[in-house]
Amino acid sequence: MPANRPNEFCYLSADMARPTGSTLLPRSDRIPVSYTATVPAIDPRAFRECCGSFATGVTVITTHTSEGDHGMTVSAFMSVSLDPPLIAVSLDRRAKMLPRLKVSRRFAVNILSQGMKAHALHFAGRSDERLMDLFLSSQGLPVLRGAAAVITADLMQQVEAGDHVLFLGHVRHLIRDSAATPLLFHAGQFNSLATRPDD
Ligand SMILES: Cc1cc2nc3c(=O)[nH]c(=O)nc-3n(C[C@H](O)[C@H](O)[C@H](O)COP(=O)(O)O)c2cc1C
Repeated sequence: MPANRPNEFCYLSADMARPTGSTLLPRSDRIPVSYTATVPAIDPRAFRECCGSFATGVTVITTHTSEGDHGMTVSAFMSVSLDPPLIAVSLDRRAKMLPRLKVSRRFAVNILSQGMKAHALHFAGRSDERLMDLFLSSQGLPVLRGAAAVITADLMQQVEAGDHVLFLGHVRHLIRDSAATPLLFHAGQFNSLATRPDD
């Protein structure tokens, strides 16, 4: 039985005093019960900190519309499927990137390399005027110079998910610098891979 899903319904015995164990009740004996009243609320800060224990890479999602090039720093990126090749990113509903992606229906995931912390901050709303001539063009999209890898995708599906929207992309083109080391993000801090003594 799911223990932690507010607003979802599952089926319990109509006679709550009777222990049900793992016995599956006949359909006629089941009633929908909401978990909302019994599950304690998750503290947003604790949730954020807990998720911060999961170390990630850092990407900049880029796209192009009639308004020009746009980039946004995103750590919520994942590969989803090999066949067909699919990826997903999770974007805050309030991000300026959202309406642009819905129009362009194409985007690039630029996986940042170790020396690109300034880029990560720049595309997270802390504009850095020292960064210039940032983009190259690939497949008609702006892509970041110096990225460890670039995955270009066509928008396949959007999934509303609370205060975020998941964008699923069908991968169309790949660029990879096999010598690059990635920029990491963990517990709210930028980081890099530990170097081995023989490096
Ligand atoms: C390291 C890092 C990771 C981030 N990851 C995400 C993310 O996965 N999803 C998201 O919606 N915002 C994320 N952000 C915040 C956005 O980059 C930020 O809100 C940005 O200004 C939105 O861009 P836009 O509104 O110009 O499109 C992240 C910021 C940083 C610094």
